[in-house]
Amino acid sequence: MDFKLAVANEILTALGATFGEVEITAPDIAAALEIPPDTAMGDYAVPCFKLSKALRKSPVMIADQLAGAIQADFLGKVEAVKGYLNFFIDRATYAEKVITLALSEGEQYGSDGSGVGRTVVLDYSSINIAKRFHIGHLSTTMIGNALYRLHRFFGWNAVGVNHLGDWGTQFGKMIAAYKRWGDHDTVAAGGVDEMVKLYVRFNAEAEQDPALNDEGRAWFKKIEDGDPEALEIFNWFKSVTLKDAERVYDILGVKFDSYAGESFYNDKMQPVIDELKAKGLLKEDNGAQIVDLQDYGMPPALILRSDGATLYITRDLAAARYRRDTYHFDKSLYVVAYQQDLHFRQLFKVLELMGYDWYKNCEHVSFGMVSYEGQALSTRGGHVVYLEDLLNTAIEKARAIIEEKSPDLENKDEVARQVGVGAVVFFDLYNNRIKDIDFQWDRALNFEGETGPYVQYTHARACSVLRKAEGLETAQPDFSALSDPFAQDVVRMIEQFPDVLKAAVNRSEPSMVTRFSVDLAQAFNKFYYENKVMVDEPGVRTARLMLTDCTRQVLKQALYLIGIEAPERM
Ligand code: ARG
Repeated sequence: MDFKLAVANEILTALGATFGEVEITAPDIAAALEIPPDTAMGDYAVPCFKLSKALRKSPVMIADQLAGAIQADFLGKVEAVKGYLNFFIDRATYAEKVITLALSEGEQYGSDGSGVGRTVVLDYSSINIAKRFHIGHLSTTMIGNALYRLHRFFGWNAVGVNHLGDWGTQFGKMIAAYKRWGDHDTVAAGGVDEMVKLYVRFNAEAEQDPALNDEGRAWFKKIEDGDPEALEIFNWFKSVTLKDAERVYDILGVKFDSYAGESFYNDKMQPVIDELKAKGLLKEDNGAQIVDLQDYGMPPALILRSDGATLYITRDLAAARYRRDTYHFDKSLYVVAYQQDLHFRQLFKVLELMGYDWYKNCEHVSFGMVSYEGQALSTRGGHVVYLEDLLNTAIEKARAIIEEKSPDLENKDEVARQVGVGAVVFFDLYNNRIKDIDFQWDRALNFEGETGPYVQYTHARACSVLRKAEGLETAQPDFSALSDPFAQDVVRMIEQFPDVLKAAVNRSEPSMVTRFSVDLAQAFNKFYYENKVMVDEPGVRTARLMLTDCTRQVLKQALYLIGIEAPERM
């Protein structure tokens, strides 16, 4: 039941009965309804000055007359206060409607199916070949994963793309280094770390002997020309990197539908370049080909270097077109750090200049940087925190806490994994995505703070209450037992869940779901502290158990949508 709309309908009827025909619709009134800052002033309020012009009456008079004319079952009372009309929803009816709806919709509760028939492409994680997966790639991976799940939940056809960074002259150097100093078994055993070592050595030795760089360039040319040996080594590097990354994706529960990365577009760029030329957008600049973006206050987009090599943006142009042609997306999201803001503004502008009006459906979902315990991360300067190490440490630490708190728990390893990984993911998704994050262990793993473990713990507590009630007599629920402010706060949060999810999708902002889960967990814990659930009176008990069940269901769903598991015992 949409209470806002129901209130609006009552107002509309009363308006007609009191003042005759008015040119206003229920949705208009619903939009004008305010939620008073303090529930003592009502659940909804209409500022009647908004009606005074149309009705040619003072707000005070309108409020007084309407208050006398409105009466409905679901309303506790209607009050006129200084030109405001305050509505109090009947507490029991409110609880009943919200809980019944949420439980009957079950796992679908929160989705209105508005994405059915629409397609979204999400570009996230997009790691680079021959580099270790470090915590700089955590946010893109988890924000992308959350947006993927959220869209699916609303019925969208979601396509997750890992746009691999698998192109560039460094791969020529890496092959050259491998041919000189590497061997198959060492790289196969050491994975990405071994490749990085080879690359570092190559650069060091090339400083002494610049001729090495020619060797690197020659190997890169071979990759470009499709030389079988070069390709074989290169593809092997790729599969070794992906195998390493796959372990991390498994721990995180992240999936992709496509791994088409930069090299995939090798043979798909020429048509784009031809088209740019045909549309008069390409300009020569010192031998290079550019799209001039001066009129839009941006530096030029470099499409071809003077030696004919293509660039990052050239590949992204081809990728954008390919995604549009292949998936016919309604929306295309790029979950990439804010350092690339300019790149995406340029990309979307060039698409616009090419006449693709679907550029409007492309969005850069930008986010801030992650530091670790106060230290900025840099690959060159040393402070690198590998994601796999971070996750494993989190699991170990969670395991130690569980050992202390619940020594009798059966599946401690499994729960430690869920809690440890959940803590990291939750921490990453807690703030507005554009903010920089400083990862701190004591904050992430605090069972009492605004953390993943806290929400998981609340979920497990709800599960445990429900387990205790198994087998007890159920009765017709007495929803008036949920009239106290604590129960009402929980009901209100549950009612807001669908709107929170919708806003999270519309703004590409998973943190709204993360925050919501904390708010609901806090409201539930207060309710639980203030009210006894397992009372003798079966009607009261049933109503409180139903609220507990709703909370369990919504917390679990909220956590799932941001990529976190919800153990039933902790
Ligand atoms: N591989 C890039 C990086 O790690 C991110 C790629 C993002 N996606 C894209 N289509 N440009 O910085």
